[in-house]
Parts: sequence; C-alpha cells; structure tokens
Amino acid sequence: MKAFFLTNNIMKAKTPKETEAISTKIVLPNDTNPLGNLFGGRLLAWMDEIAYVSANRHSRRVAVTASINNVSFNKPIKLGETVTLKAKVSRAFSSSMEVIIDVFVENSVTGEQSSSNQAIYTFVAVDQNGTPIHVPMLSPETELEEQRYAAALRRKQLSLILAGKLKPSEATELKALFDEKETNS
Ligand SMILES: CC(C)(COP(=O)(O)OP(=O)(O)OC[C@H]1O[C@@H](n2cnc3c(N)ncnc32)[C@H](O)[C@@H]1OP(=O)(O)O)[C@@H](O)C(=O)NCCC(=O)NCCS
Repeated sequence: MKAFFLTNNIMKAKTPKETEAISTKIVLPNDTNPLGNLFGGRLLAWMDEIAYVSANRHSRRVAVTASINNVSFNKPIKLGETVTLKAKVSRAFSSSMEVIIDVFVENSVTGEQSSSNQAIYTFVAVDQNGTPIHVPMLSPETELEEQRYAAALRRKQLSLILAGKLKPSEATELKALFDEKETNS
C-alpha cells in the first residue's frame, strides 16, 4: 500500500485540459425511436466511448467503466441534429477517475448550439489482469474545474454507498455537507 502511494505521488499530475476528448456525431435514422428522437442508450454508449478516451489520456492505461453516477436527459435530440460530446477528467483518486461529459446539440439549419445533457462516469485503470492500478493526480486550473474537483469526492462516496461498498457512517465528505446545511438552516 505504501509503494502504491509513493508511485502515485511521483507520477506527473495532469491538467483536465490534457485529458479532454471531443467527438461529433450526426443523429441518423438508426439512432432514433419512432418519435424521431435519439435513443437514450445510444447516447450513453457515445458518452461511454468518449469518456474512455479521456480516462485513457489521463492514465495511459486500459480503464473500465466502474459506474455511471449521473445522467440527465434534459431535452430530446432530434434526427439530423449534430451532437458534440466533450469529456474531461474532473478528479483522479488512487486508481479511479471521474469523467464529466458535456453534450451539446447543434441545429443543422440555424447552426445554433445548446447544452443538452451531462453525465458523470467513473473509470478504473487496470493492469493486464484487470487489477486496479494507480493513476496520476489531476490539477484543476479553471474555476469550473476547481468546483468539479471539489465535488467529486462527495459523488464518489455517494456512488460507493449506493454500490454497497461504503457505509454511510464512513462517508465523511457527505456527512460534512449535511452538517453544514443543517447549521445554515
Ligand atoms: C471496477 C473494478 C475494476 C473495481 O474493482 P474492485 O475490486 O471493486 O476494486 P476496488 O474496491 O479496489 O476499487 C478500485 C477503485 O474503484 C472505485 N470504485 C469501485 N466501485 C465503484 C463505484 N461503484 N463507484 C465509484 N467508484 C468505484 C474504488 O473507490 C477504488 O477507487 P480508488 O482506487 O481511486 O480509491 C471491478 O469492479 C470491475 O472490473 N468491474 C467491471 C468493469 C466493467 O467490466 N465495466 C464495463 C461494464 S460492461
């Protein structure tokens, strides 16, 4: 365990910008439901793919999807629209990386671009045996990156509780958040 942390500390930290991955797709008839809207499952697969590229750019390792922590489908994406997915690592822990994917839709006639969805995936870097392996740390640069970095630990703890891998009583960050809310109310 000691060697694990030592190696993690001497690996060069990366910035979210270095982990950025962008992909653009057109919604084709085969991607849609009978209403002509993009299937949610197709979008999930596109997000998983681009998030993998981001996690790989951070870790330069094979990474597996450990959890999909949050997906919001805010508005339908229509047949023929252009979809741009932007993924960046928001925080790296020991072997896991949180990746946030922002999805934008471009109207093919007007060219107007709007934010449509967001998803948060967790990837774990693994070795050839599928065993978790350490990843470099992440150094946020912008204000948004700082905010996402700070909130990532709470999301990790919540995800682990939901997966039955962490006792609620051990979720220190979440507890601190609720204590703070109670003090302010
Ligand atoms: C993801 C996987 C490698 C984790 O293995 P594990 O034996 O649970 O390993 P650990 O308990 O040591 O956890 C490893 C890391 O994953 C994180 N993790 C595990 N489950 C998690 C979850 N549900 N949410 C968030 N993080 C999770 C742990 O917190 C730990 O992070 P850290 O090292 O950065 O602190 C393993 O469960 C696996 O291979 N799952 C299948 C992945 C897959 O096939 N995905 C595609 C689905 S089709």
